[in-house]
Amino acid sequence: MGTARFGVSMPEDLMRAFDRQIEGKGYGTRSEALRDIIRGYLVEAQWETSAAPVVGTVTVVYDHETRELTQALTDLQHHCHGEIVCSTHIHLDSHNCLEVIVLKGTVAQVQAVADRIIATRGVKHGKLVCTTTGRGLL
Ligand code: NI
Repeated sequence: MGTARFGVSMPEDLMRAFDRQIEGKGYGTRSEALRDIIRGYLVEAQWETSAAPVVGTVTVVYDHETRELTQALTDLQHHCHGEIVCSTHIHLDSHNCLEVIVLKGTVAQVQAVADRIIATRGVKHGKLVCTTTGRGLL
């Protein structure tokens, strides 16, 4: 595969802010940072339009002392066992739990299960990260 070069015009302030950001993240060059950003953008677009099965991880933090919350999350995961590949539970401190749940299915299925998990009453923070194998992109 060949390499293409292109010029980019942008305000100087924007470029300086970008350079500071990527330096802090350890990128050696702007090109390397731009390639990663473009791949991320394309993976996201592919995920949104994919008809093929996709994968995602939901990370949630919750207080295990919140009444019936642990049971509600367990019930939900049993109910959605077709989409849930596995989950990991970490006891963060004496109150808080972190759970990472790996999901697989159509975009609509993964999004729906993630929404239900994150919307469960008592979940303090939750986020779905979507990914693909990046076939054809990476
Ligand atoms: Ni716990």
